[in-house]
Amino acid sequence: MTPFDREAAWNRVAALARRPGSGAIRPLFAADPQRFQRFHRQACDIQMDFSKTSVDDESLAALLELARATGVMARRDAMAAGEPINQTEGRSVLHMALRASRNAGFVARHTDGTVEDAGAAVEETLRAMQSFVHAVHTGDIRGATGESFTDVINIGIGGSDLGPFMASRALWTVRSPMRPLYLANADAHNWEAIRPRLNPQRTLMLVASKTFTTAETMANAHVVRGWLERNLGEMGARRHMVALSTNHEATAAFGVPADRVFGFRDWVGGRFSLWSAIGLSIALGCGWEDFSDLLAGARAMDEHFLSAPAEENLPLLLALITVWHVNGLGLKAHAILPYDHRLSRFPAHLQQLEMESLGKRVTLGGTPVERDTGPVIFGEPGTNAQHSFMQLLHQGTTPVPADFVLVANPDHPYAENHRLLLSNGLAQAEALLRGRTAEEVRAEMRKAGTPPDEIERLLPHRLFPGDRPSTTLLLDRLDAYTLGQLVALYEHKVFCLGALWDIDAFDQWGVELGKQLAKSILPELEPEGQVGEHDPSTTGLIQRIRQLQGL
Ligand code: F6P
Repeated sequence: MTPFDREAAWNRVAALARRPGSGAIRPLFAADPQRFQRFHRQACDIQMDFSKTSVDDESLAALLELARATGVMARRDAMAAGEPINQTEGRSVLHMALRASRNAGFVARHTDGTVEDAGAAVEETLRAMQSFVHAVHTGDIRGATGESFTDVINIGIGGSDLGPFMASRALWTVRSPMRPLYLANADAHNWEAIRPRLNPQRTLMLVASKTFTTAETMANAHVVRGWLERNLGEMGARRHMVALSTNHEATAAFGVPADRVFGFRDWVGGRFSLWSAIGLSIALGCGWEDFSDLLAGARAMDEHFLSAPAEENLPLLLALITVWHVNGLGLKAHAILPYDHRLSRFPAHLQQLEMESLGKRVTLGGTPVERDTGPVIFGEPGTNAQHSFMQLLHQGTTPVPADFVLVANPDHPYAENHRLLLSNGLAQAEALLRGRTAEEVRAEMRKAGTPPDEIERLLPHRLFPGDRPSTTLLLDRLDAYTLGQLVALYEHKVFCLGALWDIDAFDQWGVELGKQLAKSILPELEPEGQVGEHDPSTTGLIQRIRQLQGL
C-alpha cells in the first residue's frame, strides 16, 4: 500500500464521518432490526457488542480498508516475528512470548542482527517463579525467624504496579494463599497506611522495577528494607527480599541474593509486563494456577489476534471503533466502565496502557502527526461511576464513548445484588443511546402532578440528547482465564491503534522531562537548599513551601 492509498483511506473515513447525522445511532437501529446481530462479535469467551456506536456498514468497510492501507496486520506479523518495532528504543515487543507455549518459537531480533530465543528465557523464568511460589506456599521457604510468609508487598510503580495490582484485585479471594499488597506512591502516607497491617516476620518484599532505578520505587524499597532490618537485622531482612528486574547489577547492589532475582528482558515493556516476573505478586497472592490461567487466557486472545480475519478480529475492531470516534467524530475522551467490582483497578491499568502508549504527537518517522492520537482514558467500576461522572456522559456537551464490561455470572451468592448491578450497566448503555425526548419528560412530569409552567421551566434540564456511543464486552464469568483474555484484548487494541496512527506505541519519552526536573528541584527542598532558576510560578511555589515548612 502506498502513502497515496493510506491518505485515500483516511479521507474516506473522514468523508463518511462528515455525512449529516453521522454520529446518530438510533436511526441505525430503526433501519435495521438485525443491527445487534450484525454488529456483534465473539472471540474466545468475550462477546463484543458495538451496535450502540454509529459505525455502519459503510464506515466499517472504510475502517477495515484503512486497516489494510496502513498495514496493521503486516505490523502485527512483524511484532510476532520479533522485529524491533519499538523503533525509538530499538527493541522488539514480545509480551506475547511471555504467555506463549514454548514451541510457538518466539524470537527477539536485535538491531545488531543477533537473534535471541525468547521462549527459552521465558520458560526458564516461569520455571524458577513456579518453584519459588511453591516453596513459599508450602513453607519450604520461610522468613528469618522461621515463620511462613503470609503477606507479600509489591514495591513498584506504573507497569510494575498497575497490572499486578489490577489482576490481584480481580482474582484474590479469602481462600487465596497469601495477601498481596501494593506500594507505589513516593508519598510515604502510602506506606504508613500499609505498615500497620504487616508483621515483618511474615512479610515478603518484592521490589518490582524493570530498570531498578525508578526514584519512587527505590525510595520505597529503602524504607521497607529499613523496616525489615530494624525488625530482623540486616542478614535477616535479606531473606525477605526479592527483586523483579532486568538490571541484575543494581539488584545485587541493593542486597538481593542472586537466587531471589527473577528477570525479564528489555523486549517486555513496563505496561505489558504483568505476564513476566513482574507478575510474581499475582502468583504468590492468588496462586500459581490462577497465574498460569491468566497467561493461558492471554494466549487464547493472542492466537485470535494473530489468526482471525480483520472483520472478525476483536482487538482490531475495538481499535477501529476508537479511530471512528477520535478521528471521525472528534471525540477525545473514552470511559472504561467495568460492572464488576473485582475489576476496580482495570480502568487505572488501561489509563497507563493506553495513554502511555498512544499519547504521542509525532509519527514513527518523526514528523508531526496529522490527526489526533490517543484519547483521554478514565473510568471507575459501575455502579460507582453512575454517582460520579456519568452525568457528563449523559448530558455534557461532548459525547464520551464508553466501554461497558459486564459479567453474566458472579462468584458470590447474592443473586439480587448481581441483577441490580447488571440492570444498571445495561440501563446506562441504553440511556446513553436512547436519551429522553421532550414528550417523554412532559408525560412523566404530568403524571407526577407537576404544574404545567414548572414542567416547561424544568424541561430543558431534564432532556437527554441520546445517541451517545458505547461498546459492551460481555463475559460469562470473570476468572483468571477470562481476565487474561480481556487484558490482552486491550493490549492488542493499543497495538492496532499505534499501527493505524503510525506512532511508536511502545516508548514513553514524555515521562522523562518531569523526572529530570524533579531531580533538580529535590535539593532545593532540603533545609540548606537554594531555590534555583525556574519559571516564576514554580519559584514562587517552592518559596511558599519552604516558608510553610519553616525553612
Ligand atoms: O515513568 C514511566 C515508566 O517508565 C513506565 O513506563 C514504567 O512502567 C514505570 O515507569 C516503572 O518503571 P520501572 O519498572 O523501571 O521501575
